[in-house]
Amino acid sequence: MHDKVLILDFGSQYTQLIARRVRELNIYSEIVPYHKIPENIDDFKAVILSGSPFSVKSEAAPKPDLSKIRGQKPLLGICYGAQYLAHFSGGEVGSSKTREYGRANLTFVDQDNPFLKHVSDQSQVWMSHSDTINQLPKGGLLLASTKDVKNAAYTISGEDTFAIQFHPEVYHSKDGTQILKNFLLDIAQVKQNWTPDSFVEMTISNLKDKLGNDRVLLGLSGGVDSTVAASLLHRAVGKNLYCVFVNNGLLRKNEYQQVLDQYVGLGLNVIGVDATSNFLAALAGESDPETKRKIIGRTFIEVFDHEAHKIEDVKWLAQGTIYPDVIESISATGGPSATIKSHHNVGGLPDFMKLSVVEPLRLLFKDEVRRVGKALGLEPHILGRHPFPGPGLGIRILGDITAEKVRILQEVDAIFVQGLKDWNLYDKVWQAGAILLPVNSVGVMGDERTYEQCVALRAVESTDGMTADWVDLPYKFLQEVSNAIINRVSGINRVVYDISSKPPATIEWE
Ligand code: XMP
Repeated sequence: MHDKVLILDFGSQYTQLIARRVRELNIYSEIVPYHKIPENIDDFKAVILSGSPFSVKSEAAPKPDLSKIRGQKPLLGICYGAQYLAHFSGGEVGSSKTREYGRANLTFVDQDNPFLKHVSDQSQVWMSHSDTINQLPKGGLLLASTKDVKNAAYTISGEDTFAIQFHPEVYHSKDGTQILKNFLLDIAQVKQNWTPDSFVEMTISNLKDKLGNDRVLLGLSGGVDSTVAASLLHRAVGKNLYCVFVNNGLLRKNEYQQVLDQYVGLGLNVIGVDATSNFLAALAGESDPETKRKIIGRTFIEVFDHEAHKIEDVKWLAQGTIYPDVIESISATGGPSATIKSHHNVGGLPDFMKLSVVEPLRLLFKDEVRRVGKALGLEPHILGRHPFPGPGLGIRILGDITAEKVRILQEVDAIFVQGLKDWNLYDKVWQAGAILLPVNSVGVMGDERTYEQCVALRAVESTDGMTADWVDLPYKFLQEVSNAIINRVSGINRVVYDISSKPPATIEWE
């Protein structure tokens, strides 16, 4: 079993980042809302208190009882966590004269403390707070200050309790990872045994115990998560895993066949269903984006349910759900808010939804899914594939969808994506694709007037799709791709490049 670190969430926008930094050290961490401190606290080797949008002074501020943790377990308070630790332990917190956001530099008061090992004097740290700790709690020993914040880092004498006003988890705190390492490895003695290989071994063994000889159904999408989930399950139950891959007719050019071949190559028991005509018939004449999404979702469920019925005695439905989908976070307004997605309405559920659910990736962040995929021996081109929306080209054809429009967009998209690969740009871009606009414009080809459609190209950089910026692709590349598209795809006489960030735009146009 791997060592575990508990992160108590007080609602900071950075809580997930703390968990990721800890996991980058090959240490397993789990986020739990502040009001749900686990009974089995002894299962955790160390506890971290996150930041928060609240002021300790406010009535509604999160104020859990830390008496079973403080002094019993290695404990690190970050920002609000540091303030609350002071407040809880008899110190005094008040509003700062000036709010402090951004860069600051550490001056040591006790340089020999192991908590600050290998951290350089004047190390840059990142601040984001408006309250400050005016008085340390009883037994508090000051470790470091910044120009504006006297009590920037402290410890409590005789305890493995540490607190810092700055954020070690953000990239701009230069020695942030070193500080986390000092706390977790040297002070809390946590073992770095959360590795992709150990995860694979543990998960396969757990899946074998849980699933025995039962049959499992999995819907493959061609994306990284469902492919890694399938590989893990395949290792655990072999031919008892039944995968279904549906062609909704809105995939990229040739993708259905390529992905199907790839799954067969991986040894998976996969059933391909080409339901293009069902989807196009259901979508005919519809141009509202949300209605199109609903039609695509409903048709998928119908097709999938129909296939699922052909497999007898299935007990489990496997899903590629990942950790960000299951974390219960605290909302900025203080109320606990679950971020779990709801995929369907309760009542009238299709039969496969009534199966027991197994989610082998529910502990992993996206980057960990890729590392696990690598440990499973999956090829880089599978693991590095750009995200692609479930409704596919259906939300990149603005307005109503026809087979001809799908064909045109598939051609354009294929030229763009191949160009990115040829120019070694594909891996530098988070997501890319083409959008078919419902706009005709005048052009001239040879001596002929044309009146044809326009496509937009979109390439963004992002880490999670929540925010994104357009990529500054080389002009030469855009010129080459634009020429290729207009010369080779009949029906298109104009290409534009989307230079909007998210927010205020979104990644997809619909
Ligand atoms: P937006 O357009 O909201 O997209 O900036 C953010 C990310 O989500 C993907 N996306 C979807 N994925 N079903 C999906 O499975 C959808 O309806 C959907 N809409 C957007 C989008 O491709 C991007 O990665």
